[in-house]
Amino acid sequence: MTTVSVYGVGKAGLPLCCVIAESGHKVIGVGRNSEKSIQLNKGINPIPEETGLSDLLRKHVGKQLKFTIDGVGASKKTKVHIIIVPVFIDATNKPDFTNIKEAANNIARGLKKGDLVVLETTVPIGTTGKLLKTELEKISKLRAGRDFYLAMSPERMMTGYAISRYQELPKIVGGINMLSTKKVAQFYLTFCRQIIEVSSLETAEFIKISEGVYRDVNIALANELYKISLSSRIDYWEVQKAANNPFCHLHEPGSVGGHCIPVYPWFLINNFEVPLIKQARQQNDDMIKFYIKQTEKITKPPSRILVVGISFREGVKETAYTRSLPLIKLLEKRGYRVFVYDPLYSKEELTSMKLKYSREFNKAKAIILLNKYPDLRAPLTKYRSRVVDVKNILNQKP
Ligand SMILES: NC(=O)c1ccc[n+]([C@@H]2O[C@H](COP(=O)([O-])OP(=O)(O)OC[C@H]3O[C@@H](n4cnc5c(N)ncnc54)[C@H](O)[C@@H]3O)[C@@H](O)[C@H]2O)c1
Repeated sequence: MTTVSVYGVGKAGLPLCCVIAESGHKVIGVGRNSEKSIQLNKGINPIPEETGLSDLLRKHVGKQLKFTIDGVGASKKTKVHIIIVPVFIDATNKPDFTNIKEAANNIARGLKKGDLVVLETTVPIGTTGKLLKTELEKISKLRAGRDFYLAMSPERMMTGYAISRYQELPKIVGGINMLSTKKVAQFYLTFCRQIIEVSSLETAEFIKISEGVYRDVNIALANELYKISLSSRIDYWEVQKAANNPFCHLHEPGSVGGHCIPVYPWFLINNFEVPLIKQARQQNDDMIKFYIKQTEKITKPPSRILVVGISFREGVKETAYTRSLPLIKLLEKRGYRVFVYDPLYSKEELTSMKLKYSREFNKAKAIILLNKYPDLRAPLTKYRSRVVDVKNILNQKP
C-alpha cells in the first residue's frame, strides 16, 4: 500500500480518490477551494448523483482519505501524484494549461526520488512529455524517467458511472520510458481490473482524444441521418435499433455539450489538417439552429417557448459548453419569449443564471426537449404536437 495525492477533486477526481482509498491506499485529495475541502472532510458529497460515491466517501473520509488545499504539503507526504484537473479551451478554441501548470508546480515542490507522477487529464498530443515534464524537472531539479517516474493514463469514466468504470474499462498507461509504464501500471492494477500498457506518453494522449473525436464525428453522422429521417418521414430511432450490429454503431443524434466531447476535437483541429473532424464539430454545434427551424414550424415569434434541459446532459448538473444557453440566446434574438426548466436545477438556481423558470407546459406554444428526462413523458405527451423531441422521449415505451 502506498500514499497518493490527487490534484483536482471534481466529478472525475473525487470518485478516483474514493476508489483508490477503497483499495487500501492513503489518499489526499487536493482542491482549490477551502470551503469545499472542509465539506469533503465532513463526508459531504458535492456530487450526490454519482452512483455509490456518497457511501465510499463516508466510509473512508477521516481515515484513508483526506482533503486539503495545500498542494505542496500533499506532494511532500505522498509517493504517487495524480493530476486530474480540466484543460479548457478559450473563445478562440485554444487550450488553457493554467490548471495543469499550477498542479505541476505544487507537485514539483514536494517531489522526491522514486515518486510517480501521472497525468489523467485529456490533453493535446505532447503535453505530458513537454509541458508537464519541463515544469516538474525545472522546479524539482529531478529527472523524469530516472529520478521520478512519469506517465499518462487518461481518465475514461462517464459522469454518473465513474466508480464502476474502473472495473469495466481497461486503464491505459503510457510512460516516458518502460520503467515508468511498469511502475504506474503496477500501481493502477491495485484498483483497476485491467491495464493496457501502451508504447509512449503520446500514444496514451492520442487514444483518449481519438475516443472523444470518434464520438463527436459519429454524433455528427447520426445528426445528418436524423435530418434525412425526419424529411423522409422515417423513424431514425427505429433505423438505429435495426441497423446496429458489431460492424455498425449508429449513435444517438443530439446537441453535444460538456467539457469533453466538444473540446477534444480542437486539440487536433488546432494542429493538424482534419477537415472531417472540423466539419463534424461545426455540424454538431449547429444542431441548435436546426431545432429552431423545427420550432418555427410549430410557432412563430414572439410566442412563448419552453426549453427543457439546461445541463449538457441528463443526470449531470453541469453547464460547461452546454448548447442550451446559446440556443436560448438565439431564440431570444429571433424574438421568442424563452422560459426554461430542468429537473436538476431549482427555480432559484435558474433565476440566478438570469433564466426565466417555468414548469407550466400548457402555457408554452412550443417545447424544446433537449435532454433525456423519461419522467417528463407523462406530463408532456398531451402536448406532443408542440414538442421538439430531440431525444425521442415521447415515443419510447414506459
Ligand atoms: N467528468 C467527466 O465525465 C470526465 C470524463 C473523462 C475524463 N475527464 C477528465 O477529467 C478532467 C477533470 O474533469 P472533472 O469533470 O473532474 O472537472 P470538474 O470541473 O468537475 O473538476 C475539476 C476540479 O479541479 C479543480 N482544479 C483546477 N485546477 C486545479 C489545481 N491546479 N489543483 C487542484 N485542483 C484544481 C477545479 O477547481 C475543480 O474543482 C477533464 O478535463 C477530463 O480531462 C472527465
